Amino acid sequence: MHSRSSVRKALSAPICALLLVFACLPTGRQAGSARPGDENQCIACHSQASGRAGEVAGLHLKSSHAKQGCQSCHGGDPSQQEKLRAHSGGFISAPDRAETLAMCGRCHSSALREFERSRHFPESRNIPRLDCAECHGTHTVGNPPETFGYVALCTSCHGLEYLPELPEPVTQMLALTDDLQDAVRVAERQNRPLSADFITGRRRLRRNIAEIVHSTDLQSGLPRAPDILRRGESLKAMVK
Ligand code: HEC
Ligand code: HEC
Ligand code: HEC
Ligand code: HEC
Ligand code: HEC
Repeated sequence: MHSRSSVRKALSAPICALLLVFACLPTGRQAGSARPGDENQCIACHSQASGRAGEVAGLHLKSSHAKQGCQSCHGGDPSQQEKLRAHSGGFISAPDRAETLAMCGRCHSSALREFERSRHFPESRNIPRLDCAECHGTHTVGNPPETFGYVALCTSCHGLEYLPELPEPVTQMLALTDDLQDAVRVAERQNRPLSADFITGRRRLRRNIAEIVHSTDLQSGLPRAPDILRRGESLKAMVK
């Protein structure tokens, strides 16, 4: 099995198609954010920082969360210019698995509920086997490294040692997600615009795949696979 960090390095998630569906609820913590127009000091300082602290700022600004400040996940006070003051209050520097789930689940509550019912979250011990960031990345959500693929991620556990392989239709759905991501990347590189139909269709497809993967529910998932695969193939044809 891969270590948490090695899985994490390669990973992340979906590409650009705008996702407007899920609930994103503002919470108390965001009340401490800089007002519109104010400069976010987390980003201002981190963009100048060297090493990982600076690299992270660059990645974040290219991710789907670019409009959510650093504080929306890490807490802290984005109006402070001084590091110690900014890294204060409810600041979370290095979340463990449970904290990561809570962090992401504040805005993505339906994904969290699905995940909590899954075989990746065994109730017996209440210790999750995975967290959101291991599949989606942290600062690269929506803009994963080119080396990332769901098929490779899942088969880094499934099919090894005591875990049986995933059923073929599940692997096909994951391959489809990877293919669509590659196709979108190519289209963006060639400055080819994506049609509104493609964007909507892909958003629905991802939601449907996510429902199955988040909940690891094969019983209700497998019967839905043929329709998902068919829709995915037509999306692939649209973006060629
Ligand atoms: C004045 C500069 C500055 C500001 C402002 C700042 N940081 Fe940092 N931050 C750093 C530096 C430099 C590091 C690298 C580690 C170190 O030197 O402590 C760091 C490290 C971190 C880390 C890694 C964990 C740790 O504690 O080392 C996180 C997470 C982080 N910052 C988030 C934030 C957030 C969120 C904000 C805004 C609320 C923020 N930072 C504001 C300079 C800053
Ligand atoms: C979507 C939530 C989210 C946002 C937004 C976010 N982070 Fe993080 N960040 C995390 C998580 C989760 C970790 C822990 C990663 C791990 O353990 O592998 C982390 C880790 C870090 C680290 C430690 C180095 C590393 O890569 O593990 C630094 C530094 C950091 N974040 C800075 C920032 C800064 C600066 C911003 C804004 C530019 C920011 N983060 C925005 C979730 C987020
Ligand atoms: C403060 C609220 C907030 C938090 C916290 C948050 N997200 Fe998001 N997330 C959003 C919003 C808003 C979008 C939609 C961005 C868009 O469509 O442009 C989004 C989009 C996404 C997407 C879809 C990406 C895409 O482009 O298709 C994934 C996957 C995701 N988030 C995962 C995570 C993970 C993992 C964490 C925790 C590490 C997290 N989010 C934390 C608000 C949040
Ligand atoms: C086992 C890997 C895995 C884990 C763990 C996981 N996801 Fe996902 N997630 C996926 C896959 C696969 C998709 C759909 C394919 C794609 O993104 O293109 C997806 C899609 C999503 C989406 C976009 C579609 C939608 O549902 O609106 C969001 C947002 C999201 N995940 C958030 C989360 C959050 C939050 C967590 C943690 C509670 C989480 N995910 C845990 C694999 C995972
Ligand atoms: C860190 C290792 C790991 C990774 C990575 C991983 N899984 Fe799992 N998965 C597990 C474990 C452990 C179980 C629980 C097996 C059990 O309960 O017997 C499981 C269970 C499942 C099940 C339920 C199987 C069944 O027979 O009911 C599905 C479906 C599943 N995973 C899908 C995925 C998908 C899709 C991915 C990639 C997006 C993935 N997993 C990534 C470890 C992993």
